[in-house]
Order: sequence, then structure tokens, then C-alpha cells
Amino acid sequence: MGGHKTIDIQLTTTKKEKPDFHNLGFGKVFTDHMFVMDYNEGEGWHSPSIIPYQPISLDPASVVFHYGQTVFEGLKAYRTKDEKILLFRPEKNFQRLNSSNDRLCIPHIDEELALEGLKKLVWMDQDWIPTVEGTSLYIRPFIISTQPYLGVSPSSQYKFMIIMSPVGSYYKEGIAPVKIAVEQEFARTVEGGTGTAKTGGNYAASLKAQEIAGEKGYSQVLWLDGKEKKYVEEVGSMNIFFKINGEVVTPSLNGSILEGITRNSILQLLKHWNVPVSERRISIDEIYEAYQKGQLEEVFGSGTAAVISPVGELLWNGQKMIINNGETGKLTTDIYNTVTGIQNGKIEDPFNWVLEVKED
Ligand code: COI
Repeated sequence: MGGHKTIDIQLTTTKKEKPDFHNLGFGKVFTDHMFVMDYNEGEGWHSPSIIPYQPISLDPASVVFHYGQTVFEGLKAYRTKDEKILLFRPEKNFQRLNSSNDRLCIPHIDEELALEGLKKLVWMDQDWIPTVEGTSLYIRPFIISTQPYLGVSPSSQYKFMIIMSPVGSYYKEGIAPVKIAVEQEFARTVEGGTGTAKTGGNYAASLKAQEIAGEKGYSQVLWLDGKEKKYVEEVGSMNIFFKINGEVVTPSLNGSILEGITRNSILQLLKHWNVPVSERRISIDEIYEAYQKGQLEEVFGSGTAAVISPVGELLWNGQKMIINNGETGKLTTDIYNTVTGIQNGKIEDPFNWVLEVKED
């Protein structure tokens, strides 16, 4: 389906200076090119092209500025020791983008064409893929609604773009354990809301709680369900896992949690290792009880940006739960090494997760 549209390519005439790949931070610098494709009701999605990275011009009345009709994705490209370029399960990102599109009333994109555009873009800007330990090229596909109209209804025009940024770790802690505050006042979403979609509004809704937690020295907040503030959902930028008395538990996909691709990969990996694992509803009381009994063995988050991120402390009801003496646990380390090893080609990929990017 994707092959019928040719992707127009316009090369930059002035390549940008590369940043210091040892000191990247997250999402601050962008590569030389970007992918763009437009939608209108007459032509559908049309004119896919790769152009020099540049600002875009939009009408101030564009729907996205007023009502937030927008979706996005995040994935990464890695360069292996033998100079191959790998993507991690990219088809999953475009499937999820289309699920988010459904929720936000945005017309579906052609997943094959989007992947073709992404592979071309990565190939063209491949000298931006950093190889320093813990770094990668972060890829951000997204769609914004561009119709100039102030009525609240789905836009009739959209822009799909892919931009890319060489990144280090998402958290300032790097791969050291992070401190997380359990949020008891604000809600991110509720069942039936937009929690399963990857849309800007979910993240805008999280800022206030995160700001308050940050003032107390916590990197992120752990969201509880919006209705009862009882059951664990996810962290601001990642899904969450608990190892309790030998069993790994993660909240089930209840309609308000993001269906993380790293989350799904970890579940597959744990089953492959025969580690007891379950997806179920888990309350914060159960976690605190396990902590008091000395059974809360490890806690970690998972996400594309966050990778596998150990949690060293959880704050809830004024109580500090210090997990594994604030150190990264054995299972968390094994999962981190295996997932990142598969992603950057250091270890074999028994699951067929990685896709090599080659010249056309
Ligand atoms: C990702 O992990 O790629 C995300 O999209 C999370 C983002 C909020 C940094």
C-alpha cells in the first residue's frame, strides 16, 4: 500500500554542526532533515517528502493551538559495533499512532509509507546516530491539526512530521535509580479518557503534579487511577513494574494506561525466562504492605525515552519506601542489559524485534 507514493527528497545545502555526543541530554538538538506529509479532505494524506529540518509556518487559528488535537510517538535508532543501523519494533509505533488517531478523530496514516519515510530519513541522517554507551537517535513522529477554525470539531487538515534528535539518558540520574512521588491529589486521566492515546493533553495534564514533586526532590510522579486514587497506573513518561516476593506485577491495560512497547517487550522477555509475571490491578496499599513485609524487592519503569529505569524510592502518604537500599536490583539489571543489548545489536534477538535500516 505504501509503495505507490513516492517520497520527494530535498537535501539540505548546509549541514549542521554535530553536538558533543558525550553530553547530549534529551531532545535538545535535531538532525539535518525531517519527514513531512499533509492531509486535506480532497487529497487525503499526500505529498510525502523529506526536507531540510526547518521551522514550519501555521495559521494562529490552527485547531492544534486551541484544542490540542494532536498525537505523537517515540522510538529509537541504534548503530551497532559492526556499523548496522537498527530500529526497535517500529511497526508497533505506527500501529499505536493509528490507535491514538482513532481516539483523537485524526485520519489514519498509511503505516507502510510512514515506515518507508522513517527508514529513508534515518538512512540520510545516519551520521547523527551516536554510539557512546547509553545514547541513541530518538525519533519523534507526530501529527498536528492545521485547519484554521475555532469551532470544536475535528480538523479537516493535518500535518504529519518525523523529527529526530541524538539523545543520552532521559533522567538526570542516568541509569541510577530515580525517586518517584505517588500522586494523591491530581489525576492524569480516567477510564474512558485519553490515557491510552499518546496525545499532548495527557502530558500537559501531568505538569502541575510533576512540578510540585520536583520541588520536593522527586523526578516524576506515579499516577493512581483517577476515580478512587487507589490503583497504580503509570509514571509520567513510563510504565511501571514491581517485583513482589519473586513475582513481577505490572498494572493491566485498563483503558487509561498507555500500551507501552517496551512494557510489552519486557512481558515477553520475562515469560521467555520463566519468571512469574502478571498483568493485573494492583493497589498502592498492596505495594505498601509488601514493602512493610520486606517483599517489595524491585521497582522499575519502562519506556522508549526512559529505557528501563530503576526506582530507588517511592513516596506515599508521607512514607518513604526505599527499594533495594536505593540500588538497582538484579532482575532490573538483567532486563536492562537484555533489552538494550537487543536494541543495539550486542546480543541475539530471539524475538525478531529489531529491523535493520539499509540503503534502498
Ligand atoms: C517515549 O518514551 O518515547 C515517550 O514518548 C515519553 C515522552 C513523554 C518522553
